[in-house]
Amino acid sequence: GVAVVDAEEPDVVVVARHGSPLVIGLGERELFAASDVSAFVRHTRQVIHLDDGDLATLRPTGYQITALSSGYSGSSGASVSSPSSSPAATRQPQTVSLEDADHDVDGHPHFMHKEIHEQPQTVARALLGRLDERFATAHLGGLGLDARASREIARVHFLGCGSAYYAGEAGAQLVESLARIPARAEPASEFRYRNPVIEPDTLYVAVSQSGETADTLAAVQELQRKGGRVIGIVNVVGSTLARECGGGMYLHAGPEVSVTSTKAYTAMYVAAALLALHLGRVRDLSHADGRRLVEGLHALPGQIEEVLAGEAAIAELAAGYARYHDLMFIGRVRGWPVAREGAQKLKEVSYLHAEAYPAAELKHGPLALIGPQLPTVAVIPDDELLDKNVSTLMEIRARRGGVLAVAHRKLPPEVADHTIVVPKNQPELDPILLGIPLQLLAYHAAVTLGRDVDRPRNLAKSVTVE
Ligand code: G6P
Repeated sequence: GVAVVDAEEPDVVVVARHGSPLVIGLGERELFAASDVSAFVRHTRQVIHLDDGDLATLRPTGYQITALSSGYSGSSGASVSSPSSSPAATRQPQTVSLEDADHDVDGHPHFMHKEIHEQPQTVARALLGRLDERFATAHLGGLGLDARASREIARVHFLGCGSAYYAGEAGAQLVESLARIPARAEPASEFRYRNPVIEPDTLYVAVSQSGETADTLAAVQELQRKGGRVIGIVNVVGSTLARECGGGMYLHAGPEVSVTSTKAYTAMYVAAALLALHLGRVRDLSHADGRRLVEGLHALPGQIEEVLAGEAAIAELAAGYARYHDLMFIGRVRGWPVAREGAQKLKEVSYLHAEAYPAAELKHGPLALIGPQLPTVAVIPDDELLDKNVSTLMEIRARRGGVLAVAHRKLPPEVADHTIVVPKNQPELDPILLGIPLQLLAYHAAVTLGRDVDRPRNLAKSVTVE
């Protein structure tokens, strides 16, 4: 995305888009150009999203968009004059529904803190109008999949980067357990380079907060080139990914400003649960199980509030654990994506080295590292794997390794030094609640260490380049 000003004509700005996002804001007698709506949302909510190959000329009196027909072949393309003549469909101005407050810290010390605390509302918004009590299912009209098409899906393949990839891993587990459809997740960055086999009966799900991540977009384009069926789970309305996917689900989490993802990640998890519930209920998931999940989803916002109420104690623990250079994160099956995302959060904002392992893999190598200098953060839901998890923790304790557990009940001192207790939901949804304390742990560790929480070094909110 480029913007060019001619020194001899200073009131004309020419902008062009190829590969990176570019939006134009239409104000009153003023125009804006930026890579993201948040840059000018205080001034106008009327926006035009440019497409690749678009060139726009902005003057105080108006604007003109030229769609270059074949990449950068010069001025031969069709010219779309707006707003007086009829603009092309994709160039029509849209009104974005953002509040000014979304771009203020609103009394919080950081955006990350604000966004963690917004989660009861963002989860409620992700569910709004999507739960059907009568049929104990989820209504996802935007998917573009009717019951028959949903039944014909033989596999589900999630794609995303960073936290969106971890949310995809959780989503794959949900789809397998609720719909009994084989499912997997893969980093979109790997997918695009490995000449993937595209199967016509696989549903590909691209997951992204920004909808502008270059690796995820490239994966979607590769899928579409080969005729794959792809839907998006996206937060930013009107983003490139949202427009390129045939259908999908918006997260409705509102703008996420902090580089590290918290509320959007949690909303992705909820969206994946809705997708799994929908796919399950058109197959063999019983009405009773559907109802159990609908009730569980409804309970989430209140339970997230309960977890957030325990922040002071988590902050104290974080200050203690921030003294270590390295931390191990472990989880088993449902706890495993939670552990991965927890380690990612800590790395991103505190710069402490955090490594995530499936709990049972510890004995196959990394147990050699365990000792008083390397504490473990363990995700321990009260489920059928509790005994297995407890014996892994005893192995760690036997080597004098410290243990901080996130669990559904306080673990005895011989198993864990500290436990953060979270409320119990349904087993499939528990990971959502188990993940919230790990966001607070990362946040407070970063604050303790004086890090630039919202803008960690070397990272960008949207990685729109390779
Ligand atoms: C960047 C951010 C990560 C984020 C990833 C995917 O690497 O630093 O925090 O998870 O992009 O972003 P997306 O917008 O596609 O969810």
